Amino acid sequence: MILVTGGTGTIGRRVVPLLQAAGSKMRVLSRHADDRGDGVEYLAVDLLTGEGLDRALDGVDVVLHLAGGPKGDEIGTRNLVAAAERAKVGHLVHISVTAVDQLPLTYFTSKLGAEQAVRGSSVPWTVLRVAQLHDFAWNAVRTMAKLPVLPVPGGLRFQPVDSRDVAERLAELTLGEPQGLVPDLVGPKVYSLAELARDYLRTTGRHRLSVPIRVPGKAGKVYRAGGNLTLTGATVGTHTWEEFVAAQV
Ligand SMILES: NC(=O)c1ccc[n+]([C@@H]2O[C@H](COP(=O)([O-])OP(=O)(O)OC[C@H]3O[C@@H](n4cnc5c(N)ncnc54)[C@H](OP(=O)(O)O)[C@@H]3O)[C@@H](O)[C@H]2O)c1
Repeated sequence: MILVTGGTGTIGRRVVPLLQAAGSKMRVLSRHADDRGDGVEYLAVDLLTGEGLDRALDGVDVVLHLAGGPKGDEIGTRNLVAAAERAKVGHLVHISVTAVDQLPLTYFTSKLGAEQAVRGSSVPWTVLRVAQLHDFAWNAVRTMAKLPVLPVPGGLRFQPVDSRDVAERLAELTLGEPQGLVPDLVGPKVYSLAELARDYLRTTGRHRLSVPIRVPGKAGKVYRAGGNLTLTGATVGTHTWEEFVAAQV
């Protein structure tokens, strides 16, 4: 049995059917229970409290841990890891984020704590660090474009990756043996935030004046130096940003 935490999210919705198609018995955990009649068992557990985790892990051989939010991932992941150790799970696959140990920002600090909880666990593990999804980049520039003037932080570059590529790689890792920290997964090209914003504006027929801004502090320095990018040794996704943008019309 495979348990996918966060199996109802953007990545989870893509990876669960792949695992199911490979013949695995599936259970999905999120804060909301469900009965979709698709042969998957959906359980409501809040990882931040951890209540109900022992029952969720009963009979589980492999956990794919995707559940996460803007805050508290380190707490939820510690609760999950403790329960997985009690249940003697055979393999814990965890999604992390590229440059998790480089950027002193709340989201990254929390994801780093989550990654450390997994890597310090007695459960055999695999960790995949993934770049920002196309969906994430699109939503970020959409939010920025709600302002009358578009603030464009200079020097910010990303390697957006498609959720289909992420789902395929995670399915492969989940069905395989524990491998420790595997190469990062990034998209096929590097884009500046200004380029991503320009593509959003063009595609949605919007016009905005853009104003360059400077990201302050250590995070700004890391971004300007490209310290958030994985330019060598990464696994590279196949679906492009242009393909994703065309599908949004
Ligand atoms: N999106 C990206 O660009 C990106 C890049 C690299 C890594 N990641 C990581 O990949 C993971 C999945 O990302 P995603 O984009 O698929 O996220 P998402 O669409 O926001 O989905 C999050 C999932 O986690 C569940 N969840 C959230 N808080 C929970 C909690 N306290 N207890 C139990 N379940 C909870 C949500 O369901 P409920 O709301 O129903 O609980 C949902 O199923 C996250 O850990 C994220 O940090 C994302």
